[in-house]
Amino acid sequence: MKIINMKNSAMASQYVATELFKVLDNNSDAAIGLATGNTMLDVYRNLNILITANKLNLKNVKTFNLDEYVGLHADHPQSYHSYMRQQLFDYNDTWDSNHIFIPNGISKDVEVACRNYEDKLNTFGPVDIQILGIGENGHIGFNEPGSSFDSTTRVVDLSDSTINANSIHFDNKESVPKQAISMGIASIMKAQRIILLALGASKQDIIQQLLTCDVTEDLPASILHTHPNVEIIVDDAACFSEAIKING
Ligand code: F6R
Repeated sequence: MKIINMKNSAMASQYVATELFKVLDNNSDAAIGLATGNTMLDVYRNLNILITANKLNLKNVKTFNLDEYVGLHADHPQSYHSYMRQQLFDYNDTWDSNHIFIPNGISKDVEVACRNYEDKLNTFGPVDIQILGIGENGHIGFNEPGSSFDSTTRVVDLSDSTINANSIHFDNKESVPKQAISMGIASIMKAQRIILLALGASKQDIIQQLLTCDVTEDLPASILHTHPNVEIIVDDAACFSEAIKING
């Protein structure tokens, strides 16, 4: 696992966008793993610019999102389907909706929906690159502390910390869904390459823990220590170590 301090959030986001762009540019059949959340907003803004400037044709690219809230329709403004349309897919008309995979949070049979999602991931994957944010409690996707490292796509209960953190996007805390469908930790670990992006002072503690901890299900992101190709990209604010700040 490598840690790279890009100094500020603009540089960090540009780096992640450029790495995604290079994968799409090198392979028109690429499969990529996507995340949502505040951290990714500038990544997608930069990626849209790169895609347009270089006239990429994305019709054969497959995308897999990490998660979706249970109970939110794809058109709900806070659903991750809406987020992805607004931040990425609406910016280029060569994305093919048949190749865009986001868990279905309103499926009548959620267990079947999870199995189907994992099957699609196995059929088109492994993804060439997976981008991740990190929760203040160490979650990746919505794999909360205690999640099994063997987990695949499934329904998860959101922790209080996640509900609190995400309540800024809803009218109040009560409106935040209590469950989500999340790609599992074993599903995420199949990616060929993983870039985790952490920005801002609110991520400093968890990045410190992540870099120094043992591999434990209490800190889901710690599994990344066992993956052969992981970069942790941070800005100064998310950096705990003076050495990394100076040398970043
Ligand atoms: C989102 C996701 C989550 C977020 C994490 C950080 O698809 O899977 O793990 O990456 O909660 O969220 P932000 O970026 O809003 O701090």
